Amino acid sequence: MCGIVGYIGKKDSLPVLLEGLRRLEYRGYDSAGVALLENGVIRVVKTQGKIKNLDALLAKEKKTCSNIGIAHTRWATHGAPTKLNAHPHSDCRNNFSVVHNGIIENFSSLKNELIKEGHKFISETDTEVAAHLVEKYYKGNLKEAFLKAVNKLEGSFAIVLMSSKYPDRLLFARLGSPLIAGVGKGENFLASDVPAILSHTNKVIYVKDCQAGEIRKDKISLFNLKGKTQPLKVEKILWDLESAQKSGYPHFMLKEIHEQPSVLKHLAAAGIKFDKKLTGALKNARQVSIVACGTAYHAGMVGKYVIEEMARVPVSVDVSSEFRYRSPIIDSRSVLIAISQSGETADTLAAVREAKNKGAKIVSICNVVGSSLTRESDFVFYTHAGPEIGVASTKAYTAQLMVLYLFGLNLARIKKSLPVATISKYNKILRNIHTHARLILKNCSRRICDVAGRHHNFGSFLFLGRNLNYPSALEGALKLKEISYIPAEGYAAGEMKHGPIALIDEYRAVVCIAPESKIYEKMISNIQEIEARKGKIVIIATQGNNDIKKYSKEVIFIPKIAELFSPILAALPLQLFAYYIAAKRGCDIDQPRNLAKSVTVE
Ligand code: M6R
Repeated sequence: MCGIVGYIGKKDSLPVLLEGLRRLEYRGYDSAGVALLENGVIRVVKTQGKIKNLDALLAKEKKTCSNIGIAHTRWATHGAPTKLNAHPHSDCRNNFSVVHNGIIENFSSLKNELIKEGHKFISETDTEVAAHLVEKYYKGNLKEAFLKAVNKLEGSFAIVLMSSKYPDRLLFARLGSPLIAGVGKGENFLASDVPAILSHTNKVIYVKDCQAGEIRKDKISLFNLKGKTQPLKVEKILWDLESAQKSGYPHFMLKEIHEQPSVLKHLAAAGIKFDKKLTGALKNARQVSIVACGTAYHAGMVGKYVIEEMARVPVSVDVSSEFRYRSPIIDSRSVLIAISQSGETADTLAAVREAKNKGAKIVSICNVVGSSLTRESDFVFYTHAGPEIGVASTKAYTAQLMVLYLFGLNLARIKKSLPVATISKYNKILRNIHTHARLILKNCSRRICDVAGRHHNFGSFLFLGRNLNYPSALEGALKLKEISYIPAEGYAAGEMKHGPIALIDEYRAVVCIAPESKIYEKMISNIQEIEARKGKIVIIATQGNNDIKKYSKEVIFIPKIAELFSPILAALPLQLFAYYIAAKRGCDIDQPRNLAKSVTVE
C-alpha cells in the first residue's frame, strides 16, 4: 500500500528512484511522483496514474542531475488519486519534502491547527501535515524538527523526509508500515520493500517499529523516537532480482502460478519442526485460533478442516478485521495462528496484537522474511514461496496450505491422534503433490484457456464446493472477481438451496468443485439441480471420472488424490481459469483496479 524509495549517493538519483518505483508498483499505482534536490532547490514532478505516466512526464522535462531524491507510488487513502494528492508533499516554502505510506489518523486536527497558524495546504492528503509540522518545528536542527513532527503523528505509517537545507541526508521513521534501508558503497537507499533496491545491494537493515534514522551517502544511523542512537543489524537478502521478474511470462500472476510445483516440492521436503516451547504451548492449548485476510483467510479455512481432522483439536477461523471486535475468548492457554503473505496486513497485525495482549502465543505463517508479523510472533513458519508480485495471491496460497498440512501432521504426532503409519502416508502424499501440480499446469492449461474463452462474457459466476473444497470455492470466486471484475460468489454447495439457487438460469455460470470425496454424490445432486435450471456448468473433477461428462461438456480434470489434500490441487485450475478469463477481457491482471498487494491500512 504505497511504495517509497529514497536515494543518496554518487549516482544520478532519478533513474535509481524510477527503477525502484517500477519494482514497487504492485504496492499501489494510482499516482506517482519524485522530489529531487538540485542546487539547493527541491524539484517535484508528479502525476496521476502509473509510473509510465511519470516516465513520460519526466522525459519532457529538462535533464538535470541530482544525487539525492525521494519517490513514491500511491494507493489513495485520503483524497482522490489526482496529481495534487500525489506524493511527495511539501511545506509552505518547499524546504521540506515528504513521502509517506500508511495513514496519519489525527491529520485532520493537526491540519486545522496548522491552518490557524498560517500554513497553506494544497492537497487533501493526510501526508501534507507532516511536511508542515517539520516546517513548524524547524529551528536549525533537522533531526529535532523531524522527531518532534513524527511524535505528533498518530496512526500507522512509514515516512521519509528530504530537506533543501540538508543535501547530505534523508531522514526516515517507521510506525507500523514497512521500511528498509539498503546498504551500498558510497550510496544508501530507503524503500518499502527489497525488490526496489536489489539491483544495487543485497544488504538491508529492516527498520523496526517506532524507529527513526538517517541515511547519508556513507553512513546509516538509527535512533528511537526520542533521538537515542540504536544499533544497526545488517541482513543479507538471499534471493536475487531474477525471482522478482517475469522471466518471459506475460504476467507475474502466470509466472507465480507456474512456480507452485517447485514451492510445494521444497516446502514438503523441508517439513516443519516444532520446538519444545511450541510443543508445550500446543499441548496446553484448548483450541487453536486462526486469523487472516482474503486469500490467506481461505487458506486458514482449509487449515481448520485439516488440523481438526488430523489432530482432533478444535480450530476457529476469523477474518482478522472481525476477530478483534467480537470479543474473542483468548487467554494464556490460547495459540493463535496468523497467516499472511506480506506479514504487513494491518488487520492481521491488529488481531495478533489483540490476542497477544490477552496472553496468547502467536504462530505466524508468512512469506516475507523480517516482516512486522514475523517480528511480533513467538513462532514463525515461512512459506518460502519467493517474492509474490501479482496482486492476486497464488503461490503464497498453496504454500500456506502446505504449511498448514505440515502443521496438522506435526500436531497429530504430538497428540497421537493419528497412527504413525497414517502420518507417514500423509507425509508421502505431501512430498509427492508437486508432481500432480506440475501435471495440471502441463496438461490442463490449454483446456482451461479454452473453457475460459467460452465463459469470459458471462455477467456473473457462482463457485460451489463442499467440505474442504468450500474454501476452494471462496478462493476461486475471489480470484475471478479481483482480476476480471466479474461478480463472483463462492458458496458451500449445500447452501445453494437456501438462497443462491434463485440466481440460476442460462445466463449464470457455475463452477462446481467436485473431486472424488465422501460427499461426491451430494455434489452431483447440486450439479443436477443447476442443470435442471439451465445454469452453465464448469466442473473440476478427478481424472478418470468420465461419468461426470454427462452433466457438462466443460470438465477440467485434476489428478486423483486423497480427498483431504484435494484443495491444493483444486487451487491451480481455479487460478488459471480466473487468469485466462481476465486475459480474454483485457484486464490489468497484475495490478487490478483499486487493489494493492499489501494492505497496510485497517
Ligand atoms: O499479505 P496477506 O496475505 O496478509 O494479504 C491478505 C489479503 O489482502 C490478500 O490475500 C488478498 O486477498 C489478495 N489480493 C487475494 O488474491
